[in-house]
Amino acid sequence: MSLLTPALQDEIRQMMARYPKPRSAILGALHRVQEELGWLSPEAQAEVAALFDMPAGEVDSLVTFYYMYFRKPMGRYVIKVCRSISCYLRGSDQLRCHLQDKLGIQRGETTADGMFSLVEGECLAACDGAPAVQINDRFVENVTSEMLDGLLEELRKGSSRFPAWPEPCKP
Ligand code: FES
Repeated sequence: MSLLTPALQDEIRQMMARYPKPRSAILGALHRVQEELGWLSPEAQAEVAALFDMPAGEVDSLVTFYYMYFRKPMGRYVIKVCRSISCYLRGSDQLRCHLQDKLGIQRGETTADGMFSLVEGECLAACDGAPAVQINDRFVENVTSEMLDGLLEELRKGSSRFPAWPEPCKP
């Protein structure tokens, strides 16, 4: 059975039709698939590759290159801590360590309850609000350890400000 629903396949074909070269839509298509499935399993990548008539290895190289694509199931809240220069100079390293202590996980890991994943990544394009953190698709700027504690509490209760990531699909 296909992981990509007919509606999602249609949506991707429409994205492809917007470009002179259909493969220009590949990054957006991968984002949409990830939004629907929670991560980009090899099986999902293979289905995307077939739609684009591309080798699966080429899709995998894109998914591997960009850290915003997930190659394994993630938690309901993916917390990305920026490690680039503006955020680093304003304490992002300490924030990451604080989260590691609070959550009991290391970078790239997910809590046992499947609630939180911790990711360290490059510039989130929110440098004027450094240090910046991204929780799923929402940004938080000028972050402090105290703010993180409050955010974790808010997320554990189910936050209306931060929509949860979908339950990861089984391949
Ligand atoms: S350096 Fe952190 S958002 Fe740009």
